[in-house]
Amino acid sequence: MANIILLGPPGAGKGTQARKLVDERGMVQLSTGDMLREAKTSGTEMGKKVAEVMDRGELVTDEIVIGLIEEKLSSGQGNGFIFDGFPRTLPQADALGRLLAKIGQKLDAVIEMRVDDEALVHRISGRFTCGKCGEVYHDATKPTKVAGTCDVCGSTDLRRRADDNEESLRTRLMEYYKKTSPLIGYYYHAGDLFGVDGLAEIDQVAASVAAILDQQV
Ligand code: AP5
Ligand code: MG
Repeated sequence: MANIILLGPPGAGKGTQARKLVDERGMVQLSTGDMLREAKTSGTEMGKKVAEVMDRGELVTDEIVIGLIEEKLSSGQGNGFIFDGFPRTLPQADALGRLLAKIGQKLDAVIEMRVDDEALVHRISGRFTCGKCGEVYHDATKPTKVAGTCDVCGSTDLRRRADDNEESLRTRLMEYYKKTSPLIGYYYHAGDLFGVDGLAEIDQVAASVAAILDQQV
């Protein structure tokens, strides 16, 4: 069992790799982005508060996302947690360390997914997701087998994200470099950092991630 963070800019492939680890290893994916998108559609006060911030591509407050993670950590952990898109700031990283210690757990690896900005623009502009099962696709690199139908669950509810436009992506990238990339140094100093070439093909990236995980167990 291992608890890992997938760290990388928007479009690095965090969600794609996390879903593979859920299927292949029975790990539990904790994506704060997915949790916040769920909150957005729930019509709650919190949902309304975060919707505009997310659509602009800015980070929501540490307090909100730490609260979401804390809630999920107390439910089952399967074969380890995959933190996807969390932590994104130094206070979130500190909070995660404290929350894991509280449940007698620790972090085993932080996997930095390295990709260049040009590839990110291409990935984000071609991405769509199944609204029912969450499978992630791409117009060019991972299309559905039958146009308009999810390969996994057969749903025709395929969606594009409100923040997957050029302007929001620019803001998301800036937020990443300003607030999240300092975590690379933070985890390097803690001795937990590993890097993978996120530009490789999806299955190759998965093999690199698997090799790191196998070293940890
Ligand atoms: P979040 O949902 O986490 O978005 P993100 O970090 O911008 O990352 P993405 O989900 O866009 O990319 P990904 O790395 O998962 O890539 P994917 O696998 O989909 O956050 C959204 C917003 O929520 C934030 O902007 C913020 O407002 C808020 N938020 C979330 N967490 C927060 C936190 N902790 N604190 C504060 N605010 C928070 O892949 C992308 C595309 O590329 C897909 O089409 C895929 O098919 C394709 N692809 C993937 N891998 C490959 C490959 N190897 N080769 C070719 N194509 C590939
Ligand atoms: Mg994602």
